[in-house]
Amino acid sequence: MKRLLTALFLSGCLAMTSNAAPAANLMPWPAHVEWRDGTLAIDATFRVRIAGHDDARLRAGIGRALDRLEKRVGINVGPRVVASGGALVVTCDSAGSALPKLGDDESYTLDVRASGAELRAPNVVGVLRGLETFLQLVEKRADGSFAAASVKIDDAPRFPWRGLMIDVARHFQPPEVIFRNLDAMAAVKMNVLHLHLTDDQGFRIESKRHPELHAVSADSGVLTQEQIRAIIAAAAERGIRVVPEFDVPGHATAWLASHPEIASVPRNYTVAKNWGVLNPVMDPTKLETDALLGSFFAEMAALFPDEFFHIGGDENNGKDWNASERIAAFKKGHGFATNEALHAWFNQKLAAMMTPLGKRLVGWDEVLHPDFPRSAVVHSWRGPESLAQAAQQGFAGILSAGYYLDLHYPAADAYAADPLPADSKLTPEQAARVLGGEAPMWSEWADARIYDFRIWPRAAAVAERLWSPREVRDVADMYRRLARVDEWLVETGVQHHAWPRFEGFSPEEAAALRVLASAVEPVKRYRRGQIQKGGLDYPLNELADWAHSESRLAREFAAKLDDWLARSADARVPGAESITDQLEAWHGAARRAAAMPASGEIAQGRLDTARLLAELTESAQLAIVALVHQKHLTPEDAARAKGLLERAAKPTKAAVEFPFLPALRRLFAAAAP
Ligand code: ACM
Repeated sequence: MKRLLTALFLSGCLAMTSNAAPAANLMPWPAHVEWRDGTLAIDATFRVRIAGHDDARLRAGIGRALDRLEKRVGINVGPRVVASGGALVVTCDSAGSALPKLGDDESYTLDVRASGAELRAPNVVGVLRGLETFLQLVEKRADGSFAAASVKIDDAPRFPWRGLMIDVARHFQPPEVIFRNLDAMAAVKMNVLHLHLTDDQGFRIESKRHPELHAVSADSGVLTQEQIRAIIAAAAERGIRVVPEFDVPGHATAWLASHPEIASVPRNYTVAKNWGVLNPVMDPTKLETDALLGSFFAEMAALFPDEFFHIGGDENNGKDWNASERIAAFKKGHGFATNEALHAWFNQKLAAMMTPLGKRLVGWDEVLHPDFPRSAVVHSWRGPESLAQAAQQGFAGILSAGYYLDLHYPAADAYAADPLPADSKLTPEQAARVLGGEAPMWSEWADARIYDFRIWPRAAAVAERLWSPREVRDVADMYRRLARVDEWLVETGVQHHAWPRFEGFSPEEAAALRVLASAVEPVKRYRRGQIQKGGLDYPLNELADWAHSESRLAREFAAKLDDWLARSADARVPGAESITDQLEAWHGAARRAAAMPASGEIAQGRLDTARLLAELTESAQLAIVALVHQKHLTPEDAARAKGLLERAAKPTKAAVEFPFLPALRRLFAAAAP
């Protein structure tokens, strides 16, 4: 009974999938789906036949798909690609561009019947996208065997730019992190890897012309040019473009550590260990700045084949420009009334440098200025408004506002952020300039051991927003499919299910801390930095690091509680049981965690959080018992619950929050005397 009720709570009623086969776990949801009766059995006899164009990239893509299929189904399909027969026939018209380009045709059709499946695409990249869809159709049946649902799919992306930004500049992310994330990106049809390569805290790419630049990060991590070429090749195999970012003129302390002569203010520069909007900034008026940038960017333009070249441009606070007499005099001489005008002039010089090298610039939305070349792309991060403004002014644009994975937004929030919402005021011509978006994962609070844990599965919700039709927006159905995709992503090698470290704790303690962590989420947006100091030496081994950005358990608990409250005109409906089970589990773990030794104020904050959770779960149990007996909390218990809610609304030094607090508030209100 308990199981059944849980299933009812979670399924919801979904107009979108009402005609769906049982295995409707596709993500991103295709443009057109027509379900049919029946299934295609997937067993050890499964083979693939290539009927049209055939090349190494196509075969490698089929090989990767079959590797994952074998893992899931537990079969070894033996000779994989056959010359005749084959349960899946792949018909590709041509190679398409070996090096992916913006606007490549990624369309495909997939026709699955009980007698066999056919995947057709104009280009190899379309086949790769279709293979991912095929894998998502393969589910286990009640008898333990596997089958793909019969379906006709006609699919193509809504937006041509669907990216993930990996920040290797703060906490360094070694090549293996990047390689495995390429596979996970491909699994949800993302097609742009944006590498944030330089920042105040690191210069993470080898320069052969100017080795002193990357030497400042030699101890903490640098990507060699050979590694970069391997990453670009692996990305191209998967139909993913690689866009490099070199953030200038701000976020540039690491440049100044080896080239202090291009700084706006003389200082003894070393790479930063802390972060935020720091003052160091290049002096755009110096010939040395142009010379170094021109030389290094030319080297990088040759290394990175993509047409787009990201020059950052964000968060120059202007303080060091204001502090420089030389820059003040220059501005006066050139009639620049503001730092924005000077920045725009600097960007024009960058455009003049890069256009002859065949590059189109991308910059964070601070670059938006009438003098910026219209070939550039504005990368909207402070809000969606700049994306629309850019499109109105003739610029192409991509959206990241709303998609910041490091700010711990729930998948539902990212899912709601549409680059071209239904009420957009853009003309069709302007709307065509909106190219898509990127989910950024900044690494101030994430080292390589935590990184995947922050990205997945939430990035899959962004991938769907950017691929699927605008009308695909049922949040409950997104979460249902996301839970399935979350499991399948493990097949790609991405490490998001490797729970972050509990270093210094016994296995029993770690088990309790894991349960504690499942009741909380890190505080959202930039709040953690206001509560904790952090820094590159901070060990990232505390409650906020162990907690998922979005706790699936906590979200499902809140949904169950709300559902129970809504249906409990008669409060004795049996759903209370699974709610109280969860409360008991959290209560037990919280009491255990509250009794652990802790040194330092952040660990003390963890104990405070655990104590608070123990008290909250106890009060919640009282409220449920009262409701079940059609009674109310006593005035004393109600006052205590109110006080707890107030305390819980203010995060402790552990910098976490209780995501189910609104549902508890409703519970206490329902049980109030
Ligand atoms: C940014 O988040 N500073 C682009």
